[in-house]
Amino acid sequence: MKVSSEILSLVPYKTGKPISEAQREYGLKSVVKLASNENPLGPSPKAIEAVEKALKNQNLYPDPSCYELVHLISQKWSISSKKVAIGNGSNEIIDLLIRIFCEPGEAILTSKAAFVAYQVCAQAARVQRFFTPLKLDFTLDLEAMAQFLVESPDKGRVRIVFIPNPNNPTGSYVGREAVRQFLEKVKDLPDLLIVFDEAYNEFVRAKDYSSAQDFMTQFPNVLVIRTFSKAYGLAGFRLGVLLAPDFVVDLFNRVRNPFNVNDLAQVAARAALSDDDFLKRTQEVTWLGLDQIYQGLNDLGLKYVPSQGNFVLFDTQRDVVQVNEALLKRGVILRPVMNYGFQTHMRMSVGTHEENQKALQALLEVLKEVKPK
Ligand SMILES: Cc1ncc(COP(=O)(O)O)c(C=O)c1O
Repeated sequence: MKVSSEILSLVPYKTGKPISEAQREYGLKSVVKLASNENPLGPSPKAIEAVEKALKNQNLYPDPSCYELVHLISQKWSISSKKVAIGNGSNEIIDLLIRIFCEPGEAILTSKAAFVAYQVCAQAARVQRFFTPLKLDFTLDLEAMAQFLVESPDKGRVRIVFIPNPNNPTGSYVGREAVRQFLEKVKDLPDLLIVFDEAYNEFVRAKDYSSAQDFMTQFPNVLVIRTFSKAYGLAGFRLGVLLAPDFVVDLFNRVRNPFNVNDLAQVAARAALSDDDFLKRTQEVTWLGLDQIYQGLNDLGLKYVPSQGNFVLFDTQRDVVQVNEALLKRGVILRPVMNYGFQTHMRMSVGTHEENQKALQALLEVLKEVKPK
């Protein structure tokens, strides 16, 4: 069977190790998993209650248009319902945007060490990937991106730019003014969409950050992706949101599978969106947890990147394969990020106070066991 070389050389997206797998492999009873930037508080209690009630309706197909959820988002996030589409996680949205707007041989542009799904989805669609370098402080370089789009010999092939803001795995962000200047520079380029992936939007504390949604009216090529997997605690349900110009929403709804978002996910998302207390509690736990992790890493003498997400990238200064193995033996799953080009760094998601404590304690022991590089 003939298979495209792009498909044969595809490296699948590496997810965090499931707890059950670590238990099986290492014979562990209790495991702390801080590897996938999930919400340590679980789903919103209102979402759980609503889902339990909706179970008895699951003989029926879900609403293919997600009508109620779309209208609730429109109201809560102050945007026309014509500019809202729902995906099976933001991952599906990334995948479909590439399939809709890029022909094989055309390209996406993103940054090195940007969230890896853009490049995986592009490669699967035989779409070229271009990357600008990361700045020394681990932030995305929007000036380099604009320069690529205006000056590079390949500029005409780029159909979509992906800007994760904040970025995973670095936790870094780009501020409002840098975004505005970038959009000014590229606003007249034809057939180009600028996608801001704001999966971690709700965790941002930086005062000079704003959602790119604020730029959608002024710059009609701006799209925003949001998710219910992080702050809303619904990763298992799979629900992402696309905010985009009407014509993009229209095309997206033509191409997606009719029942891409199941009923329980819709029910859970509607309830979670109305649970302001849960969101507030999630933010508090995340921000306290980040400060706890910073303090722990400072005590261990490890450098980290200040984060606007619910995770921290830090430098173990050691061979990360060995560090990871030693942590797993102690029942702690963090995320090595070699696939992002970092040989000694790991990413730790914020857990509960106790989980963070356990992970930091394990790290203390492991640093004594594994020699620095
Ligand atoms: C930047 C970024 N975008 C998107 C996603 C995917 O989220 P979802 O669960 O909505 O597919 C993640 C998940 O880790 C992420 O880090």
